[in-house]
Amino acid sequence: MSDPPAEPHVFVVLGATGDLMQRKLLLALYHLHRQGRFPPGSAILGVARHALDDPSFRETCARSLVAEQAGPLDDVRRFCDEMLFYFGLGPDTSESYQGLSARLQQLEQARRLPGNRILYLALPLDAVGPTIEKLGGAGLHRAAGWTRVVVEKPFGRDLASAQALNGVVHRFFDESQVYRIDHYLGKETVQNLLVFRLANAFVESDWNRDRVERVEITVAESIGVEERAEYYDASGALRDMIQNHVTQILSLVAMEPPARGSVDAIRDEKVKVLRSANPIGPDDVVRGQYTRGTVGGRAVPAYRDADGVPPASDTETYVALRLKFANWRWQDVPFFLRTGKCLPAKSTRVVVTFRAPPVSFFQSETEYAMNPDQVTLLIQPEEGVEISFEIKVPGRGMRVQTHRMKFHYADVFGVLPDGYETLVFDVMLGDPSLFVRSDEVEESWRLYSNILEHPPPVTFYPAGPEGPAEANRLTQEWGQRWTTG
Ligand code: BG6
Repeated sequence: MSDPPAEPHVFVVLGATGDLMQRKLLLALYHLHRQGRFPPGSAILGVARHALDDPSFRETCARSLVAEQAGPLDDVRRFCDEMLFYFGLGPDTSESYQGLSARLQQLEQARRLPGNRILYLALPLDAVGPTIEKLGGAGLHRAAGWTRVVVEKPFGRDLASAQALNGVVHRFFDESQVYRIDHYLGKETVQNLLVFRLANAFVESDWNRDRVERVEITVAESIGVEERAEYYDASGALRDMIQNHVTQILSLVAMEPPARGSVDAIRDEKVKVLRSANPIGPDDVVRGQYTRGTVGGRAVPAYRDADGVPPASDTETYVALRLKFANWRWQDVPFFLRTGKCLPAKSTRVVVTFRAPPVSFFQSETEYAMNPDQVTLLIQPEEGVEISFEIKVPGRGMRVQTHRMKFHYADVFGVLPDGYETLVFDVMLGDPSLFVRSDEVEESWRLYSNILEHPPPVTFYPAGPEGPAEANRLTQEWGQRWTTG
């Protein structure tokens, strides 16, 4: 099935000289252009404080694209010359935004565009609310055609600030115009969570408290804080990963099937399941911070010694937590979540462990009576699904052994598209399915309010091995263990 075409528009990026635009967004825009996704006449207008002209902005972007090995140089230049324009805001005053409005109109006239606009806020959190107010003040929330506003994560830093930001956004924009990005929702394997569950009757019929022993969600990263100390130290793993990416995975794994496949029916169920989670207390959480170590043969300094990190910082680079839902499907089933930096390898996966059969008379070849069956949903870098089960070992007797059946996307579909590309194209089409609704973002902050307000102290773990041993307490106290390997 081919995708519908987008309507001609101007794609405005506020924060166009920043890291997000230059490293990620630009690449997605370039690829979409190469695929012919931009309708004729459409343009990309970069906006930032700096006084740059169109040619120097194009040059900056061409260099960034080349650094990201986007494509052949002449093609990169063609994209930049054909599509990119720049407006320097200068001082952050309402006149500057009037100037932006005039520049947009002039661009639209010159390219005979109908006045459809995407306003993509690639800005630090503190700048988002004030920018929306200034855009609204200059009348940029309305145009001759449609206007859509895209807001990056983090959306707030706790429940109160997310509510306040939603308040500002809704003063100028209707919710149907707002696209809150969580780039995990752009990943095919995250979308597959719902498909795998709901398109396979044998899975869905076992996806509940009668059959499931525990659910684990792991988002491990081998990278450290890298060059992002200023942002990261004010954030930490709970805000940076758990509240958004990990919680999106959690709600897709745990939600009820929607009554219809409509955008809001799915989002309603995601909100509902988050609302049914029991409160998470400080005892349910382990916060860790990496110290000096070696990751993949590379020496890594302690988090506190990284450039820009205060020497006594107690920001967490690792979080493990446990929770239960008080609902018919999941009552008493433990969910364990963990994420961390400077772990041995990048690996994002969901492991669903099924209950052992009530009686067993087989002999196992392993130390456990029998290995429980597991479904592992591989999100990245391996992408696919693995199912482990027991089989009879040939020969006399009834000895059993665990085996895995594997489906890997790469074997069938090759390289999957980047999540950003998917999401940016969805904004161009006006499809909000893979974006986070206002009540959903608030609910996911509410879930962690208690531990954000009363964080347990950080424990330390060396960069390289498995993260803090303390995380085992969370599973052991509930009679479980983390799945390894
Ligand atoms: C970002 C976080 O949202 O996601 C980063 O701010 C993290 O700290 C990144 O490294 C992980 O994304 P991905 O797609 O590489 O798993």
